[in-house]
Amino acid sequence: MYDCPSYVILAITIMELPYLDHFHLKEEPFSTSPNPRFLYTSPVHHAALQKIRYVVAARKGLGVCFGKPGMGKTTLARLLHQTFLDDGFQAVFLTNPSFPTPNQLLRAIIQEFQVTRTARSFLDLMNIFKSFLYANAIEQNRTLVVLIDEAQTLRFPLLELLRQVINYESNDQKFLQVVLFAQEEFRAALHRARNLENRVVMSSTLESLSRLDTREMLRFRWEVAGGEAFPFTHEAVEAIYEAAQGVPRSAVILADNALLAAALHRQSTIGAETVWQVVRDRGLDDMVKTGETGGEAR
Ligand SMILES: Nc1ncnc2c1ncn2[C@@H]1O[C@H](COP(=O)(O)OP(=O)(O)OP(=O)(O)O)[C@@H](O)[C@H]1O
Ligand SMILES: [Mg+2]
Repeated sequence: MYDCPSYVILAITIMELPYLDHFHLKEEPFSTSPNPRFLYTSPVHHAALQKIRYVVAARKGLGVCFGKPGMGKTTLARLLHQTFLDDGFQAVFLTNPSFPTPNQLLRAIIQEFQVTRTARSFLDLMNIFKSFLYANAIEQNRTLVVLIDEAQTLRFPLLELLRQVINYESNDQKFLQVVLFAQEEFRAALHRARNLENRVVMSSTLESLSRLDTREMLRFRWEVAGGEAFPFTHEAVEAIYEAAQGVPRSAVILADNALLAAALHRQSTIGAETVWQVVRDRGLDDMVKTGETGGEAR
């Protein structure tokens, strides 16, 4: 493999973001990374946050957050993880939970909690974990929480393991709080795992953003990135909303592409035409192309 000299990499990195200088930004406003600092708490995101915080703080057991791709589940999970740590909870976050066996999932959770004792057999491992939960939740009165992203990838035996660990409880609390973040298809899997479904004490769904929230979200991210005059016209934001249909990731991708296009053309204002051009250039079916027939696009 040819190794790129570091000055080439640096040059490419700078070249990739000509809009930072052009729009006097400190950082990328529309990166698709799930960075919690850029999370705009729309009413639906706010409600999900509140509900999950309640379930965990009250030690109720199991909460689930649904949402189609790009709605902000991972970003929300990261924010919650940080919030729980700040609150002094013992919180761990599993981003890729699709282990082949329950044993491996259990080991991963135990490892994340930094439990030093270990065992070979699944039963012994369960006992170690149970003692750990008891010592921390009951004796030390600590809140323990495991956040699991991509929960739609958990197969039935792993869901069964979660049911078992959620079963550890006293008269008034669960020893371990579990929050699952999953795409919509998980509803069917959860329904098949009735005994787990039955233990869900809170479920929330990240619905698509409204027109107004799409606008507020874009503005919010612009300001977090150090932007001053917001460059998108009213019509451009409308176009982003129409094409993205309230899905934040789609809106962010379009805004980023439009920003780049504007910077390359030395424009300081971004109109609907630029947005529709970006949608056409993208050429993928993940965005709605109403602008192709509408007046704005021409
Ligand atoms: N409320 C929001 N405010 C600002 N940006 C958001 C919001 N929701 C999502 N985003 C942005 O959309 C992008 C996708 O978010 P994220 O990765 O969290 O979605 P997801 O629901 O986990 O998607 P997937 O199901 O594909 O994993 C990220 O750039 C994220 O910052
Ligand atoms: Mg995600």
